[in-house]
Amino acid sequence: MEEQELAGGVANAGSVVRVGEQVLRPSNPQSRVIHRFLRALREEGFEGASLPVGIDESGRERLVFIEGDVAVPPYPDWAQSDAALSSIAVLMAAFHEASRAFDPSGLTWSAEMADPVGGPIVCHNDVCLENVVFREGVAVGLVDFDFAAPGRPVYDLAAFARMCVPIDDDVSAARLGWHPADRPARLRLIADAYGLDAPGRVQLGEALADSIARGGEFVRLRVEAGDPNFLAMWNDMGGMERFDRRRRWWAEHEDRFANALR
Ligand SMILES: Nc1ncnc2c1ncn2[C@@H]1O[C@H](COP(=O)(O)OP(=O)(O)O)[C@@H](O)[C@H]1O
Ligand SMILES: [Mg+2]
Repeated sequence: MEEQELAGGVANAGSVVRVGEQVLRPSNPQSRVIHRFLRALREEGFEGASLPVGIDESGRERLVFIEGDVAVPPYPDWAQSDAALSSIAVLMAAFHEASRAFDPSGLTWSAEMADPVGGPIVCHNDVCLENVVFREGVAVGLVDFDFAAPGRPVYDLAAFARMCVPIDDDVSAARLGWHPADRPARLRLIADAYGLDAPGRVQLGEALADSIARGGEFVRLRVEAGDPNFLAMWNDMGGMERFDRRRRWWAEHEDRFANALR
């Protein structure tokens, strides 16, 4: 059967293909553990994540293709809507709930995007629009669990908010096609749709500040390791200056986000 390339990612750009009802992508040392986790989500009744088929003789992982729409830059208007954003938050709440049943201890996970303080449940850690499948504007599926690792749900939410509100300076946001929006209000929408309580909102604000403070480290390490896809992205975006610009922007605006979460 013919291989059809699927666009959207950086890490495996050009190497993710659809063949019939399956997605084939490179596996990594964590793939088997991730598949165990994804199967456990199904057993909990959660159907909003990729379902693994296995790892084939060529070393590629196979997943069931999730029918629907995935937004890639420049992001279309429907993917920038408040309804789309809150539907992802609702999906993440159900995902985290199902994840609680899985014990991640004693297993090896990616450390690259993981919550630095660790945590009790396996989180996705890379919920950007490219990793969410929508149907009729509603988020129905999470894909790309390569960076899944134990952490706090608020850290997962912070990464999602950073990429999908987005919480970013105007130059970087515009590069991906984001239109101007009331971004503090969109952060609040995430907390509301997810059902975050008052202490959780404080923790979300802190996790956000932390992830912005450490922004760029993951990409820099991949560049130093010689990953050509990340090197191209790094040069394209202007290296660490892209993340420094966001840090300056955050320092000027963080009060507005904190107020929106109160
Ligand atoms: N199970 C799936 N169902 C539907 N589409 C998928 C699935 N897995 C990946 N895709 C599509 O392929 C693109 C790239 O795959 P992804 O797993 O995110 O790779 P990368 O590691 O490069 O980000 C995604 O943005 C999405 O559009
Ligand atoms: Mg991806």
